[in-house]
Amino acid sequence: MFFDPRSDGMKPEPFTHSVYTAIVVPRPIGWISTVGADGVVNLAPFSFFNALTGDPPCVMYCPLGFKPGTTEPKDSLTNAEATGEFVFNLCTYDLREQMNATSAHEPAGVDEMAAAGLAPAPSKNVKPPRVAAAPIALECKYLETVRLPPSSSGSPNNVVIGEVIGIHVDDAVISDGIIDIAKLRPLARLGYLDYATIEPSAVFSMARPG
Ligand SMILES: Cc1cc2nc3c(=O)[nH]c(=O)nc-3n(C[C@H](O)[C@H](O)[C@H](O)COP(=O)(O)O)c2cc1C
Repeated sequence: MFFDPRSDGMKPEPFTHSVYTAIVVPRPIGWISTVGADGVVNLAPFSFFNALTGDPPCVMYCPLGFKPGTTEPKDSLTNAEATGEFVFNLCTYDLREQMNATSAHEPAGVDEMAAAGLAPAPSKNVKPPRVAAAPIALECKYLETVRLPPSSSGSPNNVVIGEVIGIHVDDAVISDGIIDIAKLRPLARLGYLDYATIEPSAVFSMARPG
């Protein structure tokens, strides 16, 4: 089948649910910690997240739309723009429930890390704390926000880009000089309400040509 999302939307026959998020899969989850101008810690997951470049390392996440019932941007956007900093925390299978809990819409004054029962660990080069239980964290300096065309209902689509200026790796996930994917067990987002993690038996290597 073929469809044009501009005229057909994201749920043409025979789909029963909006299909786009089931098409680009699996997506890594950017579990983003920021602090407000008042110092309150914010933590939220973004599956429109990815690494963009390796040298210098840059990442992006997309705070889309507004806080429910308002025309205010999401705190993860407001905070990164106000303070110039954010942290990517790697969400593992073991942290899936806490990650999900941090997607709840809390008022800006609520420490979302504490509310999800997560301990903070200090960052070195930026103010926002990292999730202590996350085996990898990337401290990021905010670079810019790219404003993409708004949604069909007129709500904003933002891409926040940052440069990684500090990398934490838990020694427990390092084996023989590499990051051991079996120990890491990163969580990935699929479509609908589905998630996946990586089982070692599903991993294979392939040399590049030439
Ligand atoms: C797995 C997962 C992925 C999500 N990905 C996004 C995303 O890419 N963009 C977005 O705007 N919201 C996404 N959300 C919803 C946000 O996490 C939610 O709106 C959150 O409350 C935003 O928090 P904030 O206002 O503290 O920034 C996602 C939620 C979950 C559970």
